This record gives sequence, structure tokens and C-alpha cells, in this order.
Amino acid sequence: MALVIGVVSQKGGVGKSTVARLTACNYAVSEWTVKIADMDLSQGTCTNWNRRRLQNEIRPMVSVEQFVNVSDALKHGDRYDLIVFDGAPHSTSKTLDIAKASDLVVLPTGVSLDDLEPTIKLAHELKKNGVPAKKIAIALSRIGNSDAELAEGMEYVRASGYHLLDGVLFEKTAVRRASDEGKCATETGFKSINEKADVLVQAIVNRVEEVK
Ligand SMILES: Nc1ncnc2c1ncn2[C@@H]1O[C@H](COP(=O)(O)OP(=O)(O)O)[C@@H](O)[C@H]1O
Ligand SMILES: [Mg+2]
Repeated sequence: MALVIGVVSQKGGVGKSTVARLTACNYAVSEWTVKIADMDLSQGTCTNWNRRRLQNEIRPMVSVEQFVNVSDALKHGDRYDLIVFDGAPHSTSKTLDIAKASDLVVLPTGVSLDDLEPTIKLAHELKKNGVPAKKIAIALSRIGNSDAELAEGMEYVRASGYHLLDGVLFEKTAVRRASDEGKCATETGFKSINEKADVLVQAIVNRVEEVK
């Protein structure tokens, strides 16, 4: 059975698809056979991104498929080394299904209270519904250039008791441009941006090994 990493949030636009693609690409680089289960049918963000990746012949290849249900996505789980769920916003039951099926569930969030409060609320709900707290990890995403804001956001997550992943995804035009070309956040044209995104994805890799 494949390793399963879920990327979920009740909010749209927090970076779920960006973190899902980043995770998938970086396991694929290590020769893992990776599938992204794109659960956001209305957006199809990863599905469309993968079309661009194929058109531009970007390696390594990842496969992306759209699914309505978690169980359908897991049906052929033995064909893959890793399944990454890219969650849909506003779907409480599917978010919980993804979290329950995952070896690690990553909650991307910005550092405004508008983002942090619903993120921690979702973490509590997952825990209340039987997801072990240690399997929940918070990823800071779309971070601006204020050190003070970032420090306060990190403190807010630490105070919640949930695991804060090392590394953050900074809000960068280059990340958007890379994804326009079918690339992930470690495949931009800028070494420093790629290295920073790599810290986050390595933290995901390390954490899943610790808690699975
Ligand atoms: N680190 C980043 N830097 C710049 N733009 C980003 C970054 N992360 C995400 N975005 C952009 O923000 C928007 C929402 O990101 P996305 O990953 O699709 O979020 P979600 O899946 O949670 O809706 C997209 O337009 C995406 O290109
Ligand atoms: Mg998305």
C-alpha cells in the first residue's frame, strides 16, 4: 500500500495545490511512483498543472487523477509508492476522509489570523474526529516579507500544540510563474527560492517518517 500524504484546508487559496505538487515532485525525483489525487473537482488545479508539465516535457513525471471519493483514489494504491491528496475547500466530510486515510495530513496556512484561526479550528476538528494529533502538521505558506509577522504566526502555531513544519513557502512571483509552466516550488529559476521550498518539503518527508 502506498504512503499517503493529505494536503487539506477548509479555505481556498492557502496553497494546498502548491504544497501537494511540491510534495509529489520531490518524491518523484527520488524515483518514487507518485499519484496526486486531485479532489478539487471544481478547480482541477493539479490536473491542469500536470497537463502543462507534460506539454513542457518536465521531468520527473507525476500522475494526476481526479477523484470524487477517497476510497476510489485508494483502490489502486498498491500501484503507487505515494498518493498525495490535494483537498477541496469547504468539504468537511471529504477533508476528514482524507485526513483519516493519510499517514500525514498537512494543513497549509498563511500567518494572518484570518488564516490561522480556521486552520487550528480544523486541526481540532480532525483530532476530535479521531485523527491522531501527531499526524497533523502545519505548513506556513504564502509568507510575506515581514519577519515580525512570520515570528508571530510561528508562535501562534506552536502555542496550539500542533507540529509546525520547518521551512516556509514565501509568496514569490517565481513560484506562480513556475507553476504556470508545470513546475513546482523547487523548480523555479531561482536557486534561493528552490532551496527554501526544499526545506519545507524535506520537513514533510521527515515528519511522515516519524509518525507513520
Ligand atoms: N508561494 C507562493 N508564491 C506565489 N504564489 C503562490 C504561492 N503559493 C500559492 N500561490 C498562488 O496562490 C494561489 C492559490 O494557491 P493554491 O496552491 O492553488 O491554493 P489552494 O489549493 O489552497 O486553493 C494560486 O494562484 C497560486 O499560484
Ligand atoms: Mg487547490
